[in-house]
Amino acid sequence: MSQEVPRILVVDDELGIREGCRKIFSVEGYGVEVACNGLEGLETFKSQGSFSVVLVDLNMPKMGGLELIEHLRELDDDVVIFVITAYATIETAVEATRKGAYGYIPKPFTPDELLLPVRNGLERRALTLESKRLREERERRLLELAVERSRSSTIISCMSDGVLVINRDRQIVLRNAAANRIIPGCDALPQVAGLDALCSSEIQALVDEVLSQQARPGIASKELVFEKLTFLVNVSQVLEPSGEVSGAVAVLRDITPLKQLETAKTLFMSMVAHEFKSPLYAVEGLLSSVVGGVGGPDPERDRHFIERSLLRIKTLQALVSDLLNLTAMETGRFTVNRLPLDITPVLHEVTETCRDHAMDQKIDLSIVDLPADKPLFVLADREALTIVLTNLVDNAIKYSPEGGQVRVCVDRDPSYTRVHIQDNGIGMSPEEQEHVFDEFFRAKNKKAIHVPGTGLGLSLVKRLVDLHQGRISVRSAPDKGSTFTVSLPNCSY
Ligand SMILES: Nc1ncnc2c1ncn2[C@@H]1O[C@H](COP(=O)(O)OP(=O)(O)OP(=O)(O)O)[C@@H](O)[C@H]1O
Ligand SMILES: [Mg+2]
Repeated sequence: MSQEVPRILVVDDELGIREGCRKIFSVEGYGVEVACNGLEGLETFKSQGSFSVVLVDLNMPKMGGLELIEHLRELDDDVVIFVITAYATIETAVEATRKGAYGYIPKPFTPDELLLPVRNGLERRALTLESKRLREERERRLLELAVERSRSSTIISCMSDGVLVINRDRQIVLRNAAANRIIPGCDALPQVAGLDALCSSEIQALVDEVLSQQARPGIASKELVFEKLTFLVNVSQVLEPSGEVSGAVAVLRDITPLKQLETAKTLFMSMVAHEFKSPLYAVEGLLSSVVGGVGGPDPERDRHFIERSLLRIKTLQALVSDLLNLTAMETGRFTVNRLPLDITPVLHEVTETCRDHAMDQKIDLSIVDLPADKPLFVLADREALTIVLTNLVDNAIKYSPEGGQVRVCVDRDPSYTRVHIQDNGIGMSPEEQEHVFDEFFRAKNKKAIHVPGTGLGLSLVKRLVDLHQGRISVRSAPDKGSTFTVSLPNCSY
């Protein structure tokens, strides 16, 4: 409550009354101002303000008491107004009260007859002001609470993690849209539902564990699977400021991509191990035969075994280089320097590199329809483009029977230059084509059973093409052949 000295305004045209009141109130320690008519009273009230009590005479020149009361009420709801008059009638008293006067003090009055009602009025005013302040405070708090609640619930409802809030009576008192989506049947539960109604005994067990835990703040976690997706469920205690457990919060985070990555990594490791194992065992077997010399010395046979060993070692070298390139790309260490590059000489170089391989396989390898005198500029890294094209031409040769044909041709539109590597080899089924760019994928074609390879070549090719903001596609049919097309952005300058 305010400790300020109450200020009182006395408005009366009788000097004696004004000065008498001033004296009585001053002795009591109140602040006093006086005015000799309604108009002056109103001016004083307006200019000095913050009066707690106003005493108003009814009959005054310039502005009468009733009119003044009316103006004062418009200016201040809480000021306590007393009518002081010697000519009181019931009617005027009623009228004055109707206009907002709090009480009525008949003249003449003794100091006590004046002070008692004024003290009462002041007390009433203090109470009114206090309850008003409390009401305003409560409304402000309620507003803050409402804003805070709506902010928190907006945040919780926007979260992609599922959130459940459970009170200590094992009731789910809040859950967000993600929780409804993740936990089967959760969206059908009433707004406040018992924990036992939740279709997950694992979450129930985690919550119970946390609610009964002595440790602060208790947390329990578990990986759970809902609808083929894996979630990390963390349940934590909600603590009162006193440290008492008032409930629990369960947060469900989708960790499916992490799990898939983990599985892919394990699969990748076991595939790599497997890919190393078979050529190493083969080389060991071949070289042991040479060293053991079973069946006596035979230089011809030894040479054959050593050559086969070298071939397997070459496969291993290719595997190591593919793996190093792939990991370099994964870790962002592989950089492509895309510069304006005429692909015509690159195509000639690649076909020449693969020429021996083609001749071994009796494959007719040629570049067709290449404009001899016109450069074909693309934006590419020469080394990366060489790896891409060599892999594709090498595959076309590898997966074609003896006497087959491999053709390399180019076409171009204003945005892209497309290189087509076409063979009339063993081809692939639509299902095989879907996986052809996956790491370690090798089609199970009986005709290619003895063709060496690791299944990493095309995944490397795809990544390199992606780094060029290019595209790679395949069209193929079993026993008819395949065409791989690489599209590279043209160099626009
Ligand atoms: N031109 C093609 N014709 C038919 N099948 C093909 C062709 N190119 C690729 N394939 C199929 O796609 C698989 C994956 O090819 P990829 O180049 O990635 O691996 P790879 O040739 O087996 O081994 P390497 O890592 O040594 O290249 C091949 O094993 C083969 O089954
Ligand atoms: Mg290959």
